[in-house]
Amino acid sequence: MRVFLGVTGASGAPYAARLLEALTEADCEVGVCISGAGLEVIATELYGDARLSRDETIARFAEHAHGGVTVFDPQDWRSPYASGSARVDAYVICPCSMGTLGTIASGAMQNLIHRAASVALKEERKLVLCPRETPLSAIHLENMLTLKRAGATILFLAPGFYHGAERVEDLVDFVVARCLDQLGLENALVPRWGSAG
Ligand SMILES: Cc1cc2nc3c(=O)[nH]c(=O)nc-3n(C[C@H](O)[C@H](O)[C@H](O)COP(=O)(O)O)c2cc1C
Repeated sequence: MRVFLGVTGASGAPYAARLLEALTEADCEVGVCISGAGLEVIATELYGDARLSRDETIARFAEHAHGGVTVFDPQDWRSPYASGSARVDAYVICPCSMGTLGTIASGAMQNLIHRAASVALKEERKLVLCPRETPLSAIHLENMLTLKRAGATILFLAPGFYHGAERVEDLVDFVVARCLDQLGLENALVPRWGSAG
């Protein structure tokens, strides 16, 4: 399975790292694109240093993959993910900032992440957007409704607490498992409701 993973500047970098790990463990070929703000959030939330260089941040983030990952520059329009003619099975933007959400909803394409999302919508392919913001303005809510109506899945970064979470990692896994489910990827990251154990 070939998957595009866009990482933007909303809080939630641990979700992106775990998702990259899980996708590559599931033998997906993953194309990653990280926005400038996404790099800053990754450096802050995963490595505790907002001033970590771009190259160091990308290198450390890519270490979460178990092979099969290529990182693309946000302005790399030659990337296969920039065109509908390339075979891509699914697109995920996690975390998805309200800025990126609004840009995609408007149809504008300022970087490869916006373009890949736009390709997914026009080609009627699976697009999972994982926004995080609170509280939400009417503009945020309308943008999400626009994208839902256009065919995207809105998978809000809102973990549940009912599966016996004991660590932050359990809450991260809760959301990542829901995301993998959307892509049709088998996973056992959290116990399924109603199943024994
Ligand atoms: C540490 C940090 C946390 C942020 N958290 C959020 C957030 O949770 N949601 C959001 O929409 N924007 C958040 N922002 C603001 C976005 O990064 C900013 O709007 C940026 O322009 C988004 O650009 P991008 O969508 O190209 O990544 C955060 C910024 C920083 C530095």
